[in-house]
Amino acid sequence: QGSMRVKDLAEALSISPTELIMELLNMKILANVNQMLDPDIIKEIAKKYGYKVEEIKPRVSLKKKTLSPEEEAKLKPRPPVVVVMGHVDHGKTTLLDAIRQTKIAEKEYGGITQHIGASMVEHNGRKIVFLDTPGHEAFTALRARGAQVTDIAVLVVAADDGVMPQTVEAINHAKAADVPIIVAINKIDKPEANPERVKQQLSEYGLIPEEWGGDTIMVPISAKKKQGIDQLLEMILLLSDILELKADPDKPAKGTIIETKMDKGRGPVATVIIQEGTLRLRDVFVAGDVMGRVRTMFDDKGRPLKEAFPSWPVEVSGFDELPQAGDILEVVEDEETAKRILEERKQKKETSNIEVWGLGEKVLPIIVK
Ligand code: GTP
Ligand code: MG
Repeated sequence: QGSMRVKDLAEALSISPTELIMELLNMKILANVNQMLDPDIIKEIAKKYGYKVEEIKPRVSLKKKTLSPEEEAKLKPRPPVVVVMGHVDHGKTTLLDAIRQTKIAEKEYGGITQHIGASMVEHNGRKIVFLDTPGHEAFTALRARGAQVTDIAVLVVAADDGVMPQTVEAINHAKAADVPIIVAINKIDKPEANPERVKQQLSEYGLIPEEWGGDTIMVPISAKKKQGIDQLLEMILLLSDILELKADPDKPAKGTIIETKMDKGRGPVATVIIQEGTLRLRDVFVAGDVMGRVRTMFDDKGRPLKEAFPSWPVEVSGFDELPQAGDILEVVEDEETAKRILEERKQKKETSNIEVWGLGEKVLPIIVK
């Protein structure tokens, strides 16, 4: 069950701890700032402030699992999976364009990102996987999923606009999923840009820049003028080294589905981020309550692949039916095994832990243990 300290809840709701303590007093609960609150109380308070509570399972971290020395020895370094988060129009897609040297933002319908796009880039001979996420509130649930598969969150904050509601939401999601944040202070080319004000505002949410004695990396950039991009990539790689991201590429593959679509030619298609093992053509798999056999695989640039390694985003076809975003794809021995697993799952009627909220609702993520 999820619980939270008074202090953290106040921060998540953007109110002062004193105000929260007063609220609690109204509910006849005497609490101090460090007190842990029960989920029911969190939900009630959150509701008063217009939030719905979303329960998130703690991230399944390969590092935290205790591995045997033999398992440990099989781990190999893997590229970081980076999610780009931030308020609408603060420049997430433009930043990714600058990194990928593409022009996606200009082609988007209404300039709003509608889905999680995944891409892999190389910097100084090292791979980095990026996930773009939509800034619109309606996509909060998608974003919550994005945070589960990622190692690092890049928080884009426009220096002219400063910290906005979805900036705070992104901070909360990253914190709830225990994903370290690198801040990209964007649009520094604008005359109204005020990076110092952004740092000040972020400090109020516990993100203190290194030059002020904190431990949050903040890089001033202009996505549009392509300034500071190399520094940002350096910082991402530096943080990856510290995180020692590793996976065993020789296991049966396992990955998370981040988007799905019906393709005219290929049928049900899903973008999968491989988390361990290597996914190969003809591998038999289960994904949620769907099974299949890998028929085709394409990388983010549309090139056909025979195998996909840990951290790689790949578009997979060969599903019997359309799986769901958020489902885990797991390679199994053979079709018999896949059928048996699906049958077992059907009986258990596993329900997803992430609920999808409607348009325009504020969401407060809490961790369920
Ligand atoms: P959503 O996907 O809707 O959440 O937006 P986004 O965060 O992806 O923003 P997007 O990249 O679409 O950029 C929004 C607007 O800001 C566009 O008009 C960009 O050209 C502009 N913009 C992005 N980065 C910069 C920058 O560094 N400087 C300036 N001046 N404008 C920028
Ligand atoms: Mg965008």
